[in-house]
Amino acid sequence: MRKKIIVAIDGPAGAGKSTIAKIVARELGYLYIDTGAMYRAITWKAMANKIDLHDERKIVEMSKKTGIKLEQLDDKLKIFVDGKNVSEKIRSENVTKNTNTISAIQGVRKILRDKQRLLGRTGGVVMEGRDIGTAVFPDAEKKFYLDAKPKERALRRWKELKAKGKRVSLKKIAEAIRRRDYRDRHRGISPLKKAKDAIVIDSTSLTQKLVAQKILSEIYDL
Ligand code: DC
Repeated sequence: MRKKIIVAIDGPAGAGKSTIAKIVARELGYLYIDTGAMYRAITWKAMANKIDLHDERKIVEMSKKTGIKLEQLDDKLKIFVDGKNVSEKIRSENVTKNTNTISAIQGVRKILRDKQRLLGRTGGVVMEGRDIGTAVFPDAEKKFYLDAKPKERALRRWKELKAKGKRVSLKKIAEAIRRRDYRDRHRGISPLKKAKDAIVIDSTSLTQKLVAQKILSEIYDL
């Protein structure tokens, strides 16, 4: 395939987007862009600077002056905010919880959407998030909507945390995912929803490798 296209992968938390998008990007030799990390980065900076997360004007002002850089090294993605490596910090429970509030602010979405469009302007990107196929790149050549049953998504998250030595009850995780999904799906601007022309893949009982293969075969029109 000669033309470098835009591959959009959207879907709820825990559907396996990040891992799969990374595999697909590596196979294609494309850039992998995690847009959730950008919303997390803004949230982290606002929290670190003790800005009231509901003060939209201040948050937007801050966002305008924030430099976000994504750097890919092998399979690891590093996130820098104004030159500071925040890759670990943006994954904390508190940041995860508050990102919903920040990602519902129209001004923030506009700033990040412009950054995302700039990153993808020449094609050759696999971009994952919630609104890539609907709002950021509605003309993306290939769109996927990755989903999985809520129970399975909670179980995956629980296993991930367990592997890191963290013990959290499965029930609590399921509840947090349900809340996050609800807010992502019901916000006024760019809510999480399937683009009309997106290919839906339910990953509930599929391995990540198989999902990546499905996506790649669609891209190669096999
Ligand atoms: O994919 P993630 O869990 O890292 O995303 C963090 C939050 O950011 C999540 O609550 C949804 C939001 N988000 C968004 O609103 N739009 C995107 N394109 C990506 C993420």
